[in-house]
Amino acid sequence: MDAPAIERTRMIIDTDGGVDDAVAIWWAATSPDVELLAVTTVHGNVDLGLATDNVCRVLEAAGAPGVPVAAGYATAIGPTPQIRPATFIHGDDGLGNTYRPKATFGVVDEHAVSMLLRIVAEHPGEVVVVPIGPLSNIGAAIQADPTWAAKVKRLVIMGGAALTQGNALPMGEANIAHDPTAADVVALADWATPPLLVGLDVTHLATFTAAEVALVRGHHTAAGEFLDVPLEFYGRFGGTFCAPEEFPCHDALAVMTAVHPAMVTGPILPLGVQVLPGPALGATVVDRRAPFFARADPGATQTVPDGFGPWEIGLHVDVDAFRAQLHRLFGPPA
Ligand code: BDR
Ligand code: CA
Repeated sequence: MDAPAIERTRMIIDTDGGVDDAVAIWWAATSPDVELLAVTTVHGNVDLGLATDNVCRVLEAAGAPGVPVAAGYATAIGPTPQIRPATFIHGDDGLGNTYRPKATFGVVDEHAVSMLLRIVAEHPGEVVVVPIGPLSNIGAAIQADPTWAAKVKRLVIMGGAALTQGNALPMGEANIAHDPTAADVVALADWATPPLLVGLDVTHLATFTAAEVALVRGHHTAAGEFLDVPLEFYGRFGGTFCAPEEFPCHDALAVMTAVHPAMVTGPILPLGVQVLPGPALGATVVDRRAPFFARADPGATQTVPDGFGPWEIGLHVDVDAFRAQLHRLFGPPA
């Protein structure tokens, strides 16, 4: 008897074209468990043009030139704070200063927001959307069609934090801080199921160690060959907040978790975004009080102010499962 067909996760990735984005896209494009419907691009790590070129480069190198790529917002949809450009982490070209030739294909003739709206409407309840850059495209999609969020199967974002500090700002993680207004719109949208926050609390634990770096350096796979120099560049500053000699791969963790939900888990709690100027601008604020009140007084509830929506807050991460996926990507083949 034939083995039962395993349903692949239908996915759209929205990305700002950096090094960890490249790992995430390569993994999704080559995973037997993913049907990558499209990749949409947004400003962030580098400008929109570079981000878009990088996505095409990665898809071509990964053997997936047929995945449609659509360019989106070149700027935030709301006011933004001053943030140091991320070129010291991702390189001036977003791929560790490798300056590889452009891919032989480019973007399709459709704006990223229109593509996000269209594909999800064509497959209501079936598409997992994974933003791994600033949330400008996703926020704009919700503003254009407030019913869109309810048609998304699940939203899994790389961004924010519940317990730890920011990276781009004192309390602001880069993807939130680059467009706090968009993040606020996304936080409060009418999602079918609580979105998952894959934030710095978990991405700083799911790291490349010397073992994973050695695999990449061994060039056992095309991914290792292509991503070796970018990851070497990225590792210098990318690991600032991690254990010594380790560095995270934020976006890869979010994309993998969208397919393997047990990889990152946590409680459903109210989440809001600090959009007003001030010391905590760009912070994700998680109301972590409820479980304590419920423990002290079963049935008790606490007032939650306006500006919060229910999210699953990633606090637990299966680091071994994450690294096992990296080993699949970088070999050596079993
Ligand atoms: C996030 O910011 C970007 O620099 C990375 O690509 C990742 O999406 C980490 O804070
Ligand atoms: Ca990113």
